[in-house]
Amino acid sequence: MKVSIGCDHIVTDKKDEMVNFIESLGHEVIDNGTYDYERTHYPIYAKKTAERVLNGEADVGVVICGTGVGIGASSNKVKGIRSALVRDVTTAVHAKEDWNANIIGVGGRIVGQGLMEEIVETFLNTDYVPTAEKESLIQALEGPKDNDGGLNDENFFDDLLEKWDRGEYHNQREELTWERQNKKQR
Ligand code: RB5
Repeated sequence: MKVSIGCDHIVTDKKDEMVNFIESLGHEVIDNGTYDYERTHYPIYAKKTAERVLNGEADVGVVICGTGVGIGASSNKVKGIRSALVRDVTTAVHAKEDWNANIIGVGGRIVGQGLMEEIVETFLNTDYVPTAEKESLIQALEGPKDNDGGLNDENFFDDLLEKWDRGEYHNQREELTWERQNKKQR
């Protein structure tokens, strides 16, 4: 199996460990970054990870941020992705068996590495059990297929990131607790 993986700067070390673990299971991994601890934005890595899956370069994806919420929910906004936030092994089974998730989100600061590995292994080893009527209802929710939402557009975020670089965003919480911790750890 080929697995596309992505993370934000809060959990780069957890993602690197996950890459090693998935490879140790005999799977191939496409690591979409981020690769260091420099402040970045999880939608970028959600999009990159999702595109590999949608393009058929990978079978499934795993996205990791602090809680798994931001990057997982962002990946779910990419048209064609079904993502689920998973924090336990039972949910990992259901995410695939029932929802046919092609990406799971995991919180690297919430779930310990051992459980996170068990979750990912379970997800990779579980098959979808299709239900025709449910499928048609879910597809109806996805809406018309004519808007690809910037799929494969590498410059999709450029305007927004330039605004960020120019200091045009004024966040209420400039530095999250985890970011302070990350700096202390390095
Ligand atoms: C940091 O950007 C933090 O918000 C992120 O890692 C994640 O926890 C969000 O859900």
